[in-house]
Amino acid sequence: MQFTNHLWWHRSIIYQVYPRSFQDSNGDGIGDLLGIALRLDYLHALGIEAIWLSPIFPSPMADFGYDVADYVGIHPIFGSMDDFDQLLREAHQRGIKVLLDLVPNHSSDQHPWFLESRSSKTNAKRDWYIWKDANEDGTAPNNWLSVFGGSGWEWDAATGQYYYHGFLKEQPDLNWRNPEVVAAMLAVMRFWFDKGIDGFRVDVLWHIFKQADFLDNPQNPDFAPHMPSYDSLLPIYSTDQPEVHDIVKKMRALADEYEERVIIGEIYLPHEKLMAYYGEKQDGIHLPFNFTLINIEWKAQVIAAAVDAYEQALPTDAWPNWVLGNHDRPRIATRIGKAQARVAAMLLLTLRGTPTMYYGDEIGMEDVYIPQAEIQDPQGLNMPDLNMGRDPVRTPMQWSAGPYAGFTTAVPWLRLGADYTTRNVMEELKDPYSMLSLYKQLIALRKAERSLLYGDYQLVFADHQLMAYTRRHGSTTAFLVVLNLSGAPATFHPPMALKGEVIIAATGKTYDWTTGPLALLPDEGIVVRLKDQ
Ligand code: GLC
Repeated sequence: MQFTNHLWWHRSIIYQVYPRSFQDSNGDGIGDLLGIALRLDYLHALGIEAIWLSPIFPSPMADFGYDVADYVGIHPIFGSMDDFDQLLREAHQRGIKVLLDLVPNHSSDQHPWFLESRSSKTNAKRDWYIWKDANEDGTAPNNWLSVFGGSGWEWDAATGQYYYHGFLKEQPDLNWRNPEVVAAMLAVMRFWFDKGIDGFRVDVLWHIFKQADFLDNPQNPDFAPHMPSYDSLLPIYSTDQPEVHDIVKKMRALADEYEERVIIGEIYLPHEKLMAYYGEKQDGIHLPFNFTLINIEWKAQVIAAAVDAYEQALPTDAWPNWVLGNHDRPRIATRIGKAQARVAAMLLLTLRGTPTMYYGDEIGMEDVYIPQAEIQDPQGLNMPDLNMGRDPVRTPMQWSAGPYAGFTTAVPWLRLGADYTTRNVMEELKDPYSMLSLYKQLIALRKAERSLLYGDYQLVFADHQLMAYTRRHGSTTAFLVVLNLSGAPATFHPPMALKGEVIIAATGKTYDWTTGPLALLPDEGIVVRLKDQ
């Protein structure tokens, strides 16, 4: 079925800004809102039309802002509400939409709601969080675990009950079965929509409802010792409960009261479960994040099959999306190597659906080694043996070869990548074959071509090295994309009488091709403009 009513979030690329690390404007070594405003021209020139900001709200920063102490304020580290208004205005002036991060599953333990809730068993907000009595022997109410390690239950001696936290103990889970919680969070959304923001990325959306009887989660038969302890159980009762879909609908209905607002959900689930978040009648969230590419084995046939599986699982009228990186996962250039990261860029920007990019990936930033003494991420600190820290993917944006990479004038909160003197925006802007130039070219092409924006995706070929597909939209110019996902040369034999001209090669090499076999270099990807036939 052809999708007809195209909105901005079908066309735009979502660019994730990690505010601490994007640009510092006041010399404290930490990025801030006015810093982001200073870089809007860069984003505009890159072709970005939407940014998502990781949390900017008041927070004790136990989980770097994902522990919110006030959902309708701004952390002074990032600036003031006036600064936010200025950023929003300046972004909109450049045609850039702004999305905020909503963290509804849990608040900070310093949020006034929780301070009240824990103050006594009879407090009016007691039931806003998940409190349970201990078992007779004093143990926790069930076996549920925290994603960040250890039990999900924390004993509160003062009131003699446990509270549940799916993440840190400083991040108590809200009780979404309490209608007051629902109303409070919808009011938060309304506050920001009224301010004029264009949407939300909703944190761990699949976690917000827990099974009503708090049944023990079963053991995971595939658990192995090198895995985080959270994976020892299958979280079938602590996540993805059917009731979540009623809330999803309420969030959507609220967004629909405004014009063209978008809700994107962070949901790590298999395709068939993920699709339910679109809603049975497309009345759920607009884009459940598709993390297929985030940790897939980087092999042509595997990726080709996964893209097909996702396309096939997608409900009619649901709009697809693709994510290559975020602040929780290893950077693409580190995971698959620098050369393949260029091919990955081509894949992301030529697949069907809204692409989400992570800041710095456009210049090929890599994970930065963080010595033990400098680790700040609680996931890294809590599980030291598993190398799970997320600091390496959150290092400051590399703008120039100047002091502190142009990110700040003080010592940055997290160390810079050692390669910043060569891998930075200023250098890459000068080089027509840089990663940044490739991204710019691909983004411009995508924006200009209806086939790439809206066209059907059709797999043409996949083997142990190559993946090839076409994108076609009605009678507009169609495209063939051929990706060499291997480090060896490969020849593509078009199975159809395809004729065309190569317009972009991931390596920057110039091709002159019209028809017949097409020789690709190692780690090469090409976009071919097909001739009418
Ligand atoms: C999400 C965020 C992650 C955070 C966690 C708990 O997965 O992306 O950074 O630690 O939720 O809020």
